[in-house]
Amino acid sequence: CGIIACRAIEPAPGYLIAGLKRLEYRGYDSAGIAVTAADGTTAVFRTTSRVDSLTGLVDGWAGPLLAGTGIGHTRWATHGGVSEQNAHPHQDCEGRVSVVHNGILDNADRLRAELVHAGHRFSSEVDSEVICHLVEDRLLVSDDLLDAVSGAVAQLTGSWALVVLDARTGRMVAAAHRSPLLAARSTAGVFLASDISAIGDWVEEFHILADGDVIEVTNDLVWTHAGTPVAVPTAIPRPPRPTFSLTLEADDHMAAEILEQPEAATRLLEEVGGRIATGALWNDLGLPRFDRMRVVACGTSLNAGEVIGSALSRLGGLAHSSVVASEAAGSVVEPGTLTVMMSQSGETADVLRALDESPEGFPVLALVNNVHSTLGRKVDAVLSCSAGPEIGVAATKTFVCQILVGTGLVISSLVASGRMDTAQARRLVNDLYLVPEQLAEAAAAARALLPPLVDEVRGAKGFLFLGRGAGVAYAAEGALKLKEITYRWAEAYPAGELKHGPLALVEQGTPVVVVDDGDPRLAGNIAEVRARGGRIITIGRAGSSIEVPLSLAAPCGPLAAVVPLQMLALGLAVELGFDADKPRNLAKSVTVD
Ligand code: G6P
Repeated sequence: CGIIACRAIEPAPGYLIAGLKRLEYRGYDSAGIAVTAADGTTAVFRTTSRVDSLTGLVDGWAGPLLAGTGIGHTRWATHGGVSEQNAHPHQDCEGRVSVVHNGILDNADRLRAELVHAGHRFSSEVDSEVICHLVEDRLLVSDDLLDAVSGAVAQLTGSWALVVLDARTGRMVAAAHRSPLLAARSTAGVFLASDISAIGDWVEEFHILADGDVIEVTNDLVWTHAGTPVAVPTAIPRPPRPTFSLTLEADDHMAAEILEQPEAATRLLEEVGGRIATGALWNDLGLPRFDRMRVVACGTSLNAGEVIGSALSRLGGLAHSSVVASEAAGSVVEPGTLTVMMSQSGETADVLRALDESPEGFPVLALVNNVHSTLGRKVDAVLSCSAGPEIGVAATKTFVCQILVGTGLVISSLVASGRMDTAQARRLVNDLYLVPEQLAEAAAAARALLPPLVDEVRGAKGFLFLGRGAGVAYAAEGALKLKEITYRWAEAYPAGELKHGPLALVEQGTPVVVVDDGDPRLAGNIAEVRARGGRIITIGRAGSSIEVPLSLAAPCGPLAAVVPLQMLALGLAVELGFDADKPRNLAKSVTVD
């Protein structure tokens, strides 16, 4: 979900809707804006359809002239189902106070009960609505919006980035705590957003709200912290725009992004390839030598982290662990550990929370697709996977680029610490240079061979994905893609584990997808499935259902196998009539923990 707000010279809807469209990539299930009108009221427009449909609602508006101050939001449901009623902005009983909020209020139930007891009527099931009523109550006492919002947030526990609009005075106040919010001034007006991409067209620099900040947006910015005025924090220049095209209008972003992987990999290798074997990629980060690596991530990034961690163990004999970000709190960090936080968006709340809760004194490196993200700004060093904008909710090219740059980082750190000689590093880097071509060949093979396979498995309710060694993480990624966009059950296992439980799921025709990197032990596992009537689909070495080029010594394992896995999921989603770019219940950037 995402927030935008403006106090502009031109009417607000144009800015708000354009900004929300820029935030669409994060994923959402409803959207809305509230705009002040010439008669001292606020017009609210909400939809459970695409952001675009807000334009039609505004065009059909027959009320008073809409002014330049307004707030907007894309919602990804947490408390309360997907409905117009539950979409932001929310309002108090009188329609005077409008609020957009990102985050989760832990004490919302108790506050709601107290407010209801005091006579407030709620119109949604959403935790955020309590903020409207708390502010409403406080305005009865002081009529000063900045005071009222400061007082209201002092009653909240949890996380928030919020903007409050007062229809009566046209004043606008924002607050943040454990959820990102930026403010920016320009000749076009003053803007707020949870992500610079939403407002980057109109501003050159921005300021970040720290936890506990409450600010008022006048024609300028009035900054306060814990009720006391403070200086506006140092401005950060807006990051440069991506130099390659952002195909916002394409019908199927996921397909475009899968096919773009060879190009993205080439671009990335041009950027970092020459600095791997010299050790410069690692040395330039300025981090201390490490003896073990701990990857913290979620979803696809976690699978990429597993590939990188196992490359470190295989090539350098160093220990690695992969930690699910939402479970990282309290995990033991041993001396000499480098923590690598991986997140394509750099905005995933579970990862940010894990960072907040990390023990002091251990270096943290972020591997992100957006170095200007919240995660990128908060860590000791940051490395970009430079995949370019990724719109499809199911991550594809960021996965490949995370693995490439992460493997490069591993090799580079081993050279820099004297654990690998430069000649071996050069051989491994040469392997990495083969990856773009291998990805392209894998896509061509999948295109030719997948259609009949998709047709055959379209009725299957559940799938198994198997691999061994470096193939296990790719099997996990294949299962995740399938679940995300086809809504079919998919389990991934190290193939040897099959006989310890999941084999019970195999019946006549059950599809079992095997990432076959040539490990001779896979043949036995395949035979076990076949003997029970399972439908084996192998992806990998010569003789597989879909052959993909693999260099067996490749530092990142059977990477090219991920392309047919992604295309299998996409092909099945299309066949079943699902929108792969906007899978149900999922968001690209999950900003609540
Ligand atoms: C969400 C997305 C996944 C993604 C995960 C981690 O759940 O739906 O596709 O892998 O977040 O995202 P991140 O931006 O941290 O890599």
